[in-house]
Amino acid sequence: MGTRSRLAASHAPPDRDKSLQQYRARAARYDAELLPFEPLRQEAVARLELRPGETVLDVGCGTGLSFAPLQERLGPQGHIVGIEQCPEMMALARDRVHASGWRRVTLLQAPAEEARWRGRADAALFHFTHDILRQPAALDNTLAHLRPGARVVATGLQWAPPWAWPVNLFVLGAASYSVTSFDGLAQPWCALAERLEGFEVHATWMGGVFMASGFSPR
Ligand SMILES: C[S@@+](CC[C@H](N)C(=O)[O-])C[C@H]1O[C@@H](n2cnc3c(N)ncnc32)[C@H](O)[C@@H]1O
Repeated sequence: MGTRSRLAASHAPPDRDKSLQQYRARAARYDAELLPFEPLRQEAVARLELRPGETVLDVGCGTGLSFAPLQERLGPQGHIVGIEQCPEMMALARDRVHASGWRRVTLLQAPAEEARWRGRADAALFHFTHDILRQPAALDNTLAHLRPGARVVATGLQWAPPWAWPVNLFVLGAASYSVTSFDGLAQPWCALAERLEGFEVHATWMGGVFMASGFSPR
């Protein structure tokens, strides 16, 4: 896709079929591609301030790259619920769980806007899930599965200020094959901000990445 058509698509809503195609094609090389972003994952997981025995939703969990740092904090009694719509990404997440022997990981292969799970989690992670953050139904469904006051952390790409155009070239390249809509890329977290208490957001990576957090309504 050329830059022009990418930008022309910037206001379309997220497209499920396109996303499934995107991640079906990427699944096998996804973990290697995400290696440079690992420090962000560690920071996002730390910001969840998980306690042993808690339950966390990993929304758009992909191949389960966040499971190990989550599990480390949750301990053997903790519970991870991974939600992922792409079968190829979910298959790799399932392999990871089997290989690691984690017993308390529930994997739900479903769009975040439709996933159903009994119980209320203590925290939710949205790590590089722009298409999900841009779907109000996905946010509302996730919040409905959190206890009041649960901690929520979201990270991902965003447009840097215009003067940081080299950063925006990077954001353009990375977003072009990891999201299906550039809608809201200036403030990907804004629909989450409307739904959370104590919402905070800051920019990192020279403005090209955001780190947001807050609490589900009490
Ligand atoms: C960039 S990957 C991030 C994966 C993982 N969170 C990580 O940190 O490595 C985005 C993931 O969100 C998934 N996804 C996109 N839209 C979704 C939706 N509506 N419901 C569930 N998963 C979705 C994609 O299939 C993909 O695996």
